[in-house]
Parts: sequence; C-alpha cells; structure tokens
Amino acid sequence: MSPLAATTKIVLITGANQGLGFAIAKSLSSTPGYHVLMGSRNTQRGIEAASKLQQQGLAVEALDIDVTSDDSIAKATSVISSKFGRLDVLINNAGVAIDEEGSPGSKGKPPLAGSKLRTVYQDTFAVNTFGAAVTTEAFTSLLSLSSAPRIVFMSSVLGSLAYRSAAAMDAAAVLPIYRSSKAALNMIVLHYASKYKDAGWKINACCPGYCATNLNSFAGFDSPETGAINAVRLAMLGEEGETGTYSNKEGVIPW
Ligand SMILES: NC(=O)c1ccc[n+]([C@@H]2O[C@H](COP(=O)([O-])OP(=O)(O)OC[C@H]3O[C@@H](n4cnc5c(N)ncnc54)[C@H](OP(=O)(O)O)[C@@H]3O)[C@@H](O)[C@H]2O)c1
Repeated sequence: MSPLAATTKIVLITGANQGLGFAIAKSLSSTPGYHVLMGSRNTQRGIEAASKLQQQGLAVEALDIDVTSDDSIAKATSVISSKFGRLDVLINNAGVAIDEEGSPGSKGKPPLAGSKLRTVYQDTFAVNTFGAAVTTEAFTSLLSLSSAPRIVFMSSVLGSLAYRSAAAMDAAAVLPIYRSSKAALNMIVLHYASKYKDAGWKINACCPGYCATNLNSFAGFDSPETGAINAVRLAMLGEEGETGTYSNKEGVIPW
C-alpha cells in the first residue's frame, strides 16, 4: 500500500498523456492533497508525460489504461486497488474525433457510407462512449471505498440535444458521429449521477470549450489550461457541490 496520507485524494485521468488530460493532471497535482494517476494507452507516452510533471515536483505517476480494452481496464483497477486501496476521483477524459469525411469540415471528400461509415461510428463510440461507460463501471467498487467519490465525464457542447435542435444550430451540420457519441455519453452521465445521488457521489459532464489540442489539429482557440478549468472544479467539488449537471466554465449547458 502507498505511503500517501490517508486524506490524499487519488485521481485517475484517462488519456492524460497529452492535451486536456495532461493540463488537468498538471492543475490537480499542483493542488496540495491530490495524487494523480496519468492514464495513457501507450506506456512510453505515459511515462514521458508523467516525467515532465514529476520534474516540476508534482505528485503524478503514469498508469497504463486503454479504455477500449477490458483487459487493460481490469489491470488498471487491480494496480490502483493494490497500491491505493480506493479511488477518489475518476476523470473520463480519453476521447477521439475521427475524420468524418463528407461533412462540411472535410472539404472535397465524398460522404462516408456503408462499412466505412459504420467503422467511424464504431471507432468513435468505442472510445468516447463505450470506453467511458465500461471504465466507469469497472471503477465503481474502488470509488465506493472513497469518502467522497467524484466522476467527471469530458463531454462537449456538441453533444447537447437542446442546442442541436435549436434553430440557431441548423447551419452547423458538422461532426454528426462525434456529436452523437457525446450525446450518448451524456445519458451515461445521468445514469450514474442518478444511481449514486443518494450515496452522495458528485457525477457531472464537462465541456472544456474549443481548445487547441491534437484532437482538432490544434485549431481550438482556448489553451488546454483554460479547457482544464471546469474539469478541475468538478473534480474538487465539496459536499455541497452539484451532481447530474452539464457545464462549461461559463455555467450550465442544456442537455
Ligand atoms: N479539444 C477540444 O476542443 C475539446 C472540446 C470538447 C471536448 N473535448 C474532449 O476532451 C477530451 C480530451 O480531448 P483532447 O482535446 O485533449 O484531445 P487529445 O489531445 O487528442 O487527447 C486525447 C487523449 O485521449 C487518449 N486516448 C485516445 N484513445 C484512447 C483509448 N482507447 N484509451 C485511452 N486513451 C485514449 C489519447 O491518447 P494518445 O495520445 O495515445 O492518442 C490522448 O491522451 C476528449 O474526450 C474530447 O472529446 C475536447
């Protein structure tokens, strides 16, 4: 078992070797009392990312976890169980945005159809939706051993059905697959928030804003550090904090 103080919050962030996950890891591990496990699907990338923060004296370590692999998720739960005996905060951050050929954003390409379309749906949902759902379920036992479990799901405002159905959004017919994966993720957030409400868990969906990361070829206009702000806030919610909400750093987003 780890020599960390019993009050130290143990945090797991999936997909923390770059982008928003890395920025969240940096911010949380800069906060006294937080120890961050930086999830990475690639061992080398995880070690390199963690060592960047360790060199700054921050309390992080790399942890292998590929959210599309049941075996990898099981190994990660087993490592955390034997090392820390519980998990306090889970941040389901790992995500992909696969080129959706034929959408206005991907100029000159033919529309996706048939098996190619099916593959992009499957590969997107495998990480953004099924990956987050299966990871969450796998960690519920360790979270239940925390005195104050917190789960943050990295969603996106693009997953809002309310915004999508509003007239103002009609022109933005882009990324239907990515949007759908996040809309489905939002239902998973509400499922877990409802299931653990009476137990006092705080479980919320977070939109980071449009941030310059590998996911969008660094086209976003906010920095990953700005994108991390709301996720970090939700990870650190106190007893009076909200649960079952969908928000960005400006406030609540309609589902
Ligand atoms: N950037 C934005 O503007 C924006 C806006 C709204 C929501 N989001 C959401 O924010 C989250 C983080 O995205 P980002 O912008 O930081 O993108 P990013 O820089 O591309 O980082 C994505 C992370 O997810 C990891 N990942 C991908 N597939 C995985 C898998 N199967 N198992 C475990 N990890 C996996 C990546 O690992 P590798 O390094 O190995 O590829 C990487 O660490 C995503 O859920 C995204 O949908 C982003």
